[in-house]
Amino acid sequence: MIRRARPSDARAIHALVHRYAAQDLLLPRPLADIYERIRDFWVAERDGQIVGCAALRIWWHDLAEIRSLAVDPAVEGHGYGGKLVEAVGREAQRYGVTWLFALTRVAPFFERHGFAEADRALLYQKVWGDCARCPKQTACDEVAVLRPLVRDAAPLRADPRLTAHVVPPRAPGMPEHLPPQPRLRDGRRLPVVAPNGASR
Ligand SMILES: CC(C)(COP(=O)(O)OP(=O)(O)OC[C@H]1O[C@@H](n2cnc3c(N)ncnc32)[C@H](O)[C@@H]1OP(=O)(O)O)[C@@H](O)C(=O)NCCC(=O)NCCS
Repeated sequence: MIRRARPSDARAIHALVHRYAAQDLLLPRPLADIYERIRDFWVAERDGQIVGCAALRIWWHDLAEIRSLAVDPAVEGHGYGGKLVEAVGREAQRYGVTWLFALTRVAPFFERHGFAEADRALLYQKVWGDCARCPKQTACDEVAVLRPLVRDAAPLRADPRLTAHVVPPRAPGMPEHLPPQPRLRDGRRLPVVAPNGASR
């Protein structure tokens, strides 16, 4: 069964997320943060046990993120992951959001659910809001994947501050002239995003 999370699910969600955070597959989330954002979460329940979770984060009127997607390895491949993606997508649709994205290392899983790899400059709210504070910001190994939630979704606009720093494709033999990495006011760096979504 897929259902909205309740506060009493927070510890089970925390355990699931941390199992994968320990493998560097998800970012860790403090238990207090899970309680605070419990209304963002959906869970998969089997025989009274929480076996999966996923959260919706709305970033803009047209853009939302699915994050903290985790399924207990004991029940992997039973469709819980896919159902959680659909539940979060439908929730985003109910709010009138037209695009859903994820930053992930399992892009092939998301591609099976209608996502395609995307340039992070389209997700600038996330880049400026979260990635800028992430300890992995200059060494991010996640891929951005994006899926429309409605037919004829109006295209997302890229942030020119980020596209200005997109690494251009290089002709063979051309020297590498990379633009400087954008910096925040406190001197920290933002990831430079290549056209294929990889960052460097
Ligand atoms: C990715 C994950 C959520 C999938 O959950 P699940 O319940 O097994 O997913 P489903 O049963 O709906 O779908 C399984 C399908 O996805 C595919 N899949 C699962 N993990 C995959 C991966 N890492 N790479 C490619 N495909 C993957 C499976 O091969 C399977 O395909 P099949 O139906 O042809 O056999 C789960 O493996 C997980 O929690 N992974 C660790 C945490 C993680 O990476 N989360 C995503 C962060 S954005």
